[in-house]
Parts: sequence; C-alpha cells; structure tokens
Amino acid sequence: MKTLNINLGDRSYPIYIGHNLLNDKEIFQRHAKAKTIAIVTNDIVAPLYLNILTQTLGKDKKIIPIILPDGESYKNLDTLNLIYDELLKNKAGRDVLLIALGGGVVGDICGFAAASFMRGVDFIQIPTTLLSQVDSSVGGKTGINHSLGKNMIGAFYQPKCVVADINLLNTLPQRELSAGLAEVIKYGLIRDLEFFNWLETYMKKLTNKDSASLIEAVERSCTNKAEVVEADELESDKNIRATLNLGHTFGHAIENEMGYGNWLHGEAVAIGMIMAAFMSKELGWLRTPEYLRIIQLIELAGLPITPPDISEKKFLDLMMSDKKTKGNQINLVLQTAIGEAMLTNEYDPEILSKTLTHNFS
Ligand code: NAD
Ligand code: GLY
Repeated sequence: MKTLNINLGDRSYPIYIGHNLLNDKEIFQRHAKAKTIAIVTNDIVAPLYLNILTQTLGKDKKIIPIILPDGESYKNLDTLNLIYDELLKNKAGRDVLLIALGGGVVGDICGFAAASFMRGVDFIQIPTTLLSQVDSSVGGKTGINHSLGKNMIGAFYQPKCVVADINLLNTLPQRELSAGLAEVIKYGLIRDLEFFNWLETYMKKLTNKDSASLIEAVERSCTNKAEVVEADELESDKNIRATLNLGHTFGHAIENEMGYGNWLHGEAVAIGMIMAAFMSKELGWLRTPEYLRIIQLIELAGLPITPPDISEKKFLDLMMSDKKTKGNQINLVLQTAIGEAMLTNEYDPEILSKTLTHNFS
C-alpha cells in the first residue's frame, strides 16, 4: 500500500492507495472510530461492496446504509435531502461519521452532506471509480448541481482520509474507466510533462486495467492533485487550483446541454481539453505537434475526440453561466505547452468563436 499525505494544517489527511483496502481493518480502526457510521452509496455500488465494508467496520458499529439512486441526474437537492432524512430518522448526532462509498457523484453529495449536517461532521472518501480515485475524492470540493448549472451549490470540506482500493475498479465499466483517464491526462497537460510522456507509453496497459499501471497512475495523479490543493486549497489564485479546470468550461457546457449523464463528465472534459488545445494552437501558444499528441493520447484512452453538435450561441451562453466566468470575457484554462497551463481571459474572442465552430471530425 502507498500512502500520500495532503498537508493542509489541521485539515491534513492521508490518501491510501493499494489492493484490497476495503478489507483492511487496520485503516478503518484508525480512521472510523465513531460508534455510528452512515455509509452513503448508490444502488449500483451497494450490491457490490456495501457488505464487505460493513464487515470490515465490525459488529460493534451502528451502520446506517443510505442507498441513493445512481447517476449524475440525481446529484441534486432532493437526493441530498434523502441523506439528511435518514440521518435524522436514525437520530444521528454530531458524532456520526459519514463514509462516501461510490464514484464522484456519491463523493460530492456525501461530502456536502457532511459539510452541512449539524454544521459539519467527519467523513471518509472511498472512491470506487478511476475518476473519483484520481480527482474528486481528493481536495475537498463537495456539492450538488442546480438546474441552471453544474456544481453550483457546495462547500470546500476536506475528508478525514481517502481510501483508493484499486481492486474496486475490476467491476468498473470500460467507458467509465476511460472517463477517469481524461482527468489523469489532465494532470500531464497542466503540470507534468513526464507523466504525460509516461501515459503515452502505458495507456494501453491502463485501458486493459493492468493493476500495477493503475496504481502508478492513481499515485502520480493524486500527488499532482495534492500539490495543487496544498498550494491553493480554496482556488483563490487564478493560476494554481483553477488550472485543474482545464477543459471544464467547455465540458460543463456539453454536459449541461446534452443532459447530465448522457455525456459522462470525463468524456465532456476530454472534448473540452481538445477544444482548449485547439484554441491554444490557434492563438499561437501551443505548437501543432503538441496539439496532435494531445488528441492522439485522448483517443488512445478510448475517449471521444469530436464535440457534439451545439451551436456557437448556445455554447457561449452555457459557458457564460459557468461559475468561472467573470465579466464578459469567459475565463479559460489554456495551454502554452504540454505540462503548462494558465487561466486567462486575455485572448482574441475570434479564436474562441473559431474553436466553437471548428469541425473536429
Ligand atoms: P459516477 O459517480 O456517476 O460513477 C460512474 C458510474 O459508475 C455510476 O453509474 C456508478 O454507480 C458506477 N460505479 C461506481 N463505482 C463502480 C464500481 N467500482 N464498479 C461498477 N460501477 C461503479 O461518476 P464519476 O465519474 O465517478 O464522477 C463524476 C462526478 O464527479 C461528477 O459529478 C463531477 O462533477 C464530479 N467531480 C468532482 C470533482 C471534485 O473535485 N469534487 C472533480 C471531478 C469530478
Ligand atoms: N476538480 C477540480 C478541483 O478539484 O479543483
């Protein structure tokens, strides 16, 4: 097992990465001392892993299983309310521990429930998708969607630990694995050229779920994420945590327009990263060979490389309502090289228009 630490003063916590961690009693004895534990999961993950986790936690715990409907379209206030209902019906107090057992949807919503229930209770992340192991479970962004925009309601709230068990990925559908690889590639693109080079060599092994390669990819991704979050926990500097949103402003517009869940988050981000790379190339900031390497790696990861058909006007409207927009010119994370990115609104708007109307197929 590998342990990374995320250093945030009194909000510091370990990230455990390895095999069979769901069965590791020692980890849970150390971090799950509460007598009452609510396991928040969904109706896909519960039949696979809820019993194992319950057994690992031990017979002396009062376990409250909270099984949510599956899917991004349920990442909303009604579902959040189901968690509060169950906690209150079971007379949970401030000493309850919440455990998120699921992908990014469960992790984000459970984290926000933990941040807000009785003004804040402890929670642990057990991410069960690649995307949640490399990104959403680390760094404390929690929240839900609103019909007018994605992740519009939420809080920064750090977990007590993250347990990334690679074995859980054995049951993950291939399409979801690829979606997770989009966020893995993102770290290479924004700050880690060596990792990008490594991914070019190991992508085939990753899509084949080779476990040693997956462990390395999760570890290198979490190391990058931890460094970024340590430098800018609350995303207050425009060139640090904000760069993690590479491809996300384009991607959120796609998710919103196509209907949450029809395009997976990682798929939309992959297209967003291609659009950001195209725009960077057109601005003369990124060299054409680097642009082509980016498309090639994204395609090798089994991800789409052609945006859905959305009019320029619709795209712009949706991007303007993204929370990263300030003033009239949309803030975008753009590339100056593979391994270098920055948030900026200083670009020629004609090039954005060209990007939104370009035929990528
Ligand atoms: P998800 O949570 O919807 O999981 C994807 C699918 O896989 C679901 O159907 C889920 O039930 C299923 N699943 C989960 N684990 C499984 C397993 N081990 N075996 C079989 N099936 C399994 O999606 P996701 O890609 O994990 O997360 C996407 C969400 O994460 C989005 O809502 C996005 O906004 C959010 N996100 C948050 C952050 C953050 O910093 N908080 C970062 C990136 C993404
Ligand atoms: N996924 C973006 C962030 O954590 O800041």
